[in-house]
Amino acid sequence: MKARIGIVLLAGLSGLLVGSARAGDVAAGEKLVADKDCAACHQRLIGGDGSRLYTRPDRKVTSLAKLAAQVSFCSTQLKTGWFPEEEDDVVAWLNHRYYHFK
Ligand code: HEC
Repeated sequence: MKARIGIVLLAGLSGLLVGSARAGDVAAGEKLVADKDCAACHQRLIGGDGSRLYTRPDRKVTSLAKLAAQVSFCSTQLKTGWFPEEEDDVVAWLNHRYYHFK
């Protein structure tokens, strides 16, 4: 009985996490990233247009949750002032364009 409640709780929690990332608006996220200078710093790290950071074989981000954490971290670095919902949009865009997590 206890285990069952745990499973239900876990399922509910992960549903919440996935749900919040799904709520992101891909088009809005693309615009948000284009409006900020995300790429400049990534270009210094890896060259090119900076997007190779997202697609390199040894990329850091290996799940939707890690993508959300990294976007939040970088957003803070850049002082974007994005709201959590806007970060969700950016996660949706980066996932749509580069990462393709389910
Ligand atoms: C001040 C420099 C800087 C800025 C500005 C910056 N980033 Fe980053 N970003 C980093 C660093 C450092 C890493 C980690 C690179 C590593 O560890 O190899 C990173 C990694 C990432 C990754 C993960 C790449 C991977 O390995 O899969 C994402 C996603 C990302 N940044 C998104 C953004 C977004 C969105 C913005 C604009 C809001 C942004 N970054 C602005 C420095 C920056």
